[in-house]
Amino acid sequence: MKSKFGLLGKLEFLQNLSSTFISSINPAVIHNIEKYIAIKKTVYLNSLEHQTGDYLEFGVYTGSSFCHTIKCFKKTQKFNPNQKDTKFIGFDSFEGFGELAEEDKHPFYVDQNFTTSYKKVKKRAERTLKGWGAGCQLVQGYFEETLQVDPSEYGIKDIRIAFIDSDTYSSSKCAFEFIKNNVKSGTHIILDDFYSYNGDPKKGVSLAFNEFLTNSGFQFRKILDYGMGGIVTVLHR
Ligand SMILES: C[S@@+](CC[C@H](N)C(=O)[O-])C[C@H]1O[C@@H](n2cnc3c(N)ncnc32)[C@H](O)[C@@H]1O
Repeated sequence: MKSKFGLLGKLEFLQNLSSTFISSINPAVIHNIEKYIAIKKTVYLNSLEHQTGDYLEFGVYTGSSFCHTIKCFKKTQKFNPNQKDTKFIGFDSFEGFGELAEEDKHPFYVDQNFTTSYKKVKKRAERTLKGWGAGCQLVQGYFEETLQVDPSEYGIKDIRIAFIDSDTYSSSKCAFEFIKNNVKSGTHIILDDFYSYNGDPKKGVSLAFNEFLTNSGFQFRKILDYGMGGIVTVLHR
């Protein structure tokens, strides 16, 4: 009997070729490309709503997602009259995780994978921004210290997008405690590693997010899945 897929179904070599290609792509490359697309969509949707406030990133590492977000803001300027009022604020130790609590231990979350240079990242961000808009700020130090103040200490009043990308429960809990009084309906929260720790909702970023929802009274809708377990959400009352 003739196959419904025609000749294409019989071309085993084409299937092998695509399988060989896809299986050999570094997973980090797939994750980052999908993350860039997710950020692009988030900034666009957030801009269409004429949102106000700042962009906060918790876990900046080499600054690639931070700089990508800046580029997306610049490119979507025409959709939001408030675009240039947004300040970009990133938080990171730039030394990795430090001493991890027992509940945060994970085979991939180790300092060797995440040590970088604050100076280089700052330069990279400033080069990307080129004096555009309200500027950027990178806060160096462990969240357990840098996030123990009111956001107003960093000039933050209002948050339009928060990107939580610090991987562990303890660090993301600090981030959620920090933002909880300055987010609003329509704030987008991007959660990388949402399904880490074997997808256990009582661990990692997922647990911290659930606690934030309970403490703040916000509800959320998931608008996107991306990469190796990231999600984008939008808050509402
Ligand atoms: C996955 S990387 C961030 C990647 C970055 N958002 C990107 O996409 O280019 C996670 C970062 O979180 C930082 N981090 C984790 N726990 C932290 C803590 N308790 N305090 C400060 N930084 C922390 C690490 O130093 C690391 O640079």
